[in-house]
This record gives sequence, structure tokens and C-alpha cells, in this order.
Amino acid sequence: MAAITFSGVKKRYQKTDVVHGVDVEIEGGEFVVILGPSGCGKSTLLRMIAGLEDITAGTIAIDGKVVNALEPRERGCAMVFQNYALYPHMSVRQNIGYALKVAGMPRPEREARVTKVARSVSLEPYLDRKPGELSGGQRQGVAMARAMVREPKVFLFDEPFSNLDAKLRVAMRAEVRNLHRSLGVTSVFVTHDQTEAMTLADRLIVMNAGIVEQVGTPSEVYHRPASLFVADFIGSPAMNLLRGRLGEDGYFRHGRGGMIHLPELARQFVNRDVAIGVRPELIRRVASGTRGAVAAVVDYIEELGAARLIYADADGSPIIAVDNGNDALGTGMPIHLGFGEADIHAFATDTGRRLDEMEPERAPAASVSA
Ligand SMILES: Nc1ncnc2c1ncn2[C@@H]1O[C@H](COP(=O)(O)OP(=O)(O)OP(=O)(O)O)[C@@H](O)[C@H]1O
Ligand SMILES: [Mg+2]
Repeated sequence: MAAITFSGVKKRYQKTDVVHGVDVEIEGGEFVVILGPSGCGKSTLLRMIAGLEDITAGTIAIDGKVVNALEPRERGCAMVFQNYALYPHMSVRQNIGYALKVAGMPRPEREARVTKVARSVSLEPYLDRKPGELSGGQRQGVAMARAMVREPKVFLFDEPFSNLDAKLRVAMRAEVRNLHRSLGVTSVFVTHDQTEAMTLADRLIVMNAGIVEQVGTPSEVYHRPASLFVADFIGSPAMNLLRGRLGEDGYFRHGRGGMIHLPELARQFVNRDVAIGVRPELIRRVASGTRGAVAAVVDYIEELGAARLIYADADGSPIIAVDNGNDALGTGMPIHLGFGEADIHAFATDTGRRLDEMEPERAPAASVSA
């Protein structure tokens, strides 16, 4: 069980900086998922652990030992890719055992290891088949078995399931989780699928444009997003985000003259440009005249079966609410939406950072809006 430490890790390709200084500690035995949009640097970070890319600045240590100068094979990492690239002319058995054979392991020992690993990913019945005679999920299983057979200190996965259909992905996810539970090998898994990330991770590293936005458990990242980016990126439907300003009178002004009474927030962050966020599932319909209610007009309704999504407009700010009602609701109808002030996340518009985590004296002064 290896720990991995990133200290000030940067990556530059030719003249472009793509990773801007990553400081993260991964504990031994942990399953960490790197999540972020396309091009944010996930694969680059993973490839730097494996030794497939040079580290431009900073250090990566595995079990306390800096590996910057080590060859990939000296790092004890096994990588599973999206394109599993099996040898088509070899049997499953030969594919899994190939690395051991190259390393000169005697046949009986090799056979025993291959069988054991194949059993753990339910591939024992297919050992004598060729990759062309397997399903996509089975092939991905072979790719995992091939990585496992070397008994690595660290597993690295780069979007290994993105070629599989939705059902198979879910099955493979369970497989990987079970595997991790039984082997306990430190694992770093890259994906841009947030459901995959939330369900697999002990902790998430949320990245955006080469920086780490937040590190935390799935629950922490969901319930306490550290930045506007994370708030917007995690959750489906996405968190409602309204941009505006908090006034001395206790009102938050947004959109085309919309006003929401948020006295507590206004007291703390008066005269600031802020974005406030509320999860759609924490917004409910209330009677007109209810204190703090936001007047809105229905744009359209999306039926989900168990619930429905109300897409509405509140004075120029779009709001989505999860609703369990079954009364007739249609485009253009007026509704009132309510939420608790405690359910609000507030972010500085300029820095994107969460307001209640910024130190007041270091918080930048509110910009004067034109
Ligand atoms: N060999 C390279 N030379 C120059 N730029 C590169 C190279 N490899 C990657 N990049 C750039 O580095 C950035 C990060 O790429 P990376 O592959 O790490 O993204 P990613 O988060 O894995 O994206 P995806 O989800 O699409 O796989 C991108 O802007 C990419 O264009
Ligand atoms: Mg990638």
C-alpha cells in the first residue's frame, strides 16, 4: 500500500503550461478519483505518476521516495487505459501472463498467478479464448488482470470504461470496487463522468484548467463545494447559481431587478458581488406571500417519472427545482419558490472561492459594478 505525494507539480508542453502546481497527498490504500472536464490535465497528472511524462517542476513521491528520475518500470505502477490494446493472436492466458514471461518467471509460478488473477475478475472460464472472442467488458477485465498480475504498488486507471455501454460501465465499476476492497492497492482513477467518480472514490480531486479546485470525499465536495467551478460541475441537474449583489437592506439583488431576502448573508458580505447557489432538490414550491419566497415563471417542465424538474425564470435568472407535485403546471405559469438561507452556498464572483472559507481581512474588496 503506497502513498503518493505531489509537491508543487507542474507540467509544460513546449511553451504551454498545462498543470500549474499540484499539492496533494494520497494515502496508502486509498481510492482516489481525478475528476474534471476534458483537457484539464487529468491524464497528464496520471502519466506523470507512471513516468510516461516528465515532471516539469516539483516532485512526485511514492512511499516517501521521490520518483521524478525513475523509469516507469521502477515505480511499481500498473496502468489500465481506455484502449486496452490486447494482443489479438494470444489467448487470454497468454495476454495476462505476458509481462511475467518477459520478466523470466518460471512457467508453473506464472500459471498459478494468472489463474488466481483471472479468478478474481471472473475470467477463469475464458482463459483459452482469444480477445476477439470476448465481449467489451471481458476484454476490459483482461486488461485489468494484466495490470494486476504484476502485483503493483499503485493502480492507475485512465478512463478505462469509456468505450463500454452504460450497463457494462456500472458492472465494471462494481468489479473495480470489489477488487479494491479485496486487494487494498492504492488506486488513482481518472474520469470525467461524475457518477463514476462519486460512486468509486474514497476522495475526489476536482481539477479545472490545470489546477486542483478541491480535494475531498464525494460528500464534502457535493455538500460544501470550495469554488464556483466545483459547485457548477458537481451535481445533476446542476446547482442553481444566481449572480448579484448583497445590499445593506438585507436583500440580494439579481437578474432584472429580482430581490431575495437573505439577511444573514447580507450582514456578513454586504456590498459584495456574489454568486449564490442552491441545489435544485432543496428548492420547494411555496404559497405566494411566504417570507423569502422568490417569484418565478415556469419556462418548461421535464418529467422524470419519480419527480419532475421545473425550469423557471426569476426576474432574468434561471432556476431549476425538483418537484414532487403532480398538479398541472405549464409554460408561463407563475410560481413561488422557497429555500432555507442555510442551504445557500455563496461565492465571490471575482475569485470564484467560497465566501465562508475566505479570511475576511484577505477577502478582496467588492468591485464597483458599472
Ligand atoms: N503531448 C502534448 N503536447 C502538447 N500539449 C499536450 C500534450 N498532451 C496533452 N496536451 C495538452 O495538455 C492539456 C491537458 O491534457 P490531458 O490529456 O491531461 O487532459 P485530460 O484532462 O486528460 O482530458 P480528457 O478528459 O479529454 O482526456 C490539454 O490542453 C492538451 O491539449
Ligand atoms: Mg485524458
